Amino acid sequence: MQLAVFASGGGSNFQAMLDAIDAGRLNASVALCISNKESAGALERARDRGIATLVLDPKDFADSSEYDALLLESLEDHGVTFVALAGYLRQIPSAVVEAYRNRIVNIHPALLPSHGGPGMYGRHVHRAVLERGDRFSGATVHIVDEDYDTGPIVLQDTVPVQEDETAETLAARVLKIEHRLYPAALQLFSEDRVRLVGRRVLIDPIPDSQS
Ligand code: GRF
Repeated sequence: MQLAVFASGGGSNFQAMLDAIDAGRLNASVALCISNKESAGALERARDRGIATLVLDPKDFADSSEYDALLLESLEDHGVTFVALAGYLRQIPSAVVEAYRNRIVNIHPALLPSHGGPGMYGRHVHRAVLERGDRFSGATVHIVDEDYDTGPIVLQDTVPVQEDETAETLAARVLKIEHRLYPAALQLFSEDRVRLVGRRVLIDPIPDSQS
């Protein structure tokens, strides 16, 4: 699996993927790291490892089809077979979703379908969980479709919300489980064990010879 990782921020999930690759828990290589922000920490992590980087912000393109074409061309040029969004704050153009149908995933720091959608990122998500009084939060890895946070759910893991919880403490505990969950989800794709039946994601068991 040749990955492209899209990130707008520090890239701790990207780092978790790199660590999983190093540890032999994720059978993939990262061919390209894309960001809309030159200052994204994720780009530095990529450069440190000699991974190709690209900064592209759709806002800089008057003609969005030009942006779509450039993005697609870059993915193809780098032999990308799978895309992982890791804290990426721009929408993926439908032309790219179409070209990589069911081969783009995202991680969201809550239990979708709650607390997703436009504007639901970072602290906004954790505040919403606390304001609504949820007993549990968690992380969701889902397939990316044309909307925000609406695609089929691949894996989820939960954390209980504590009595003295703040958005900051919740964010930190959720992030910790994200770092385990995301590489595990990518490994399922790499092993070709993910099957979609309607909106349901079914995970095939490990074949006998490998278990
Ligand atoms: C994570 O909480 C992820 O769920 C969300 O954006 C955040 C990215 O954090 N999509 P990092 O840049 O990977 O540290």
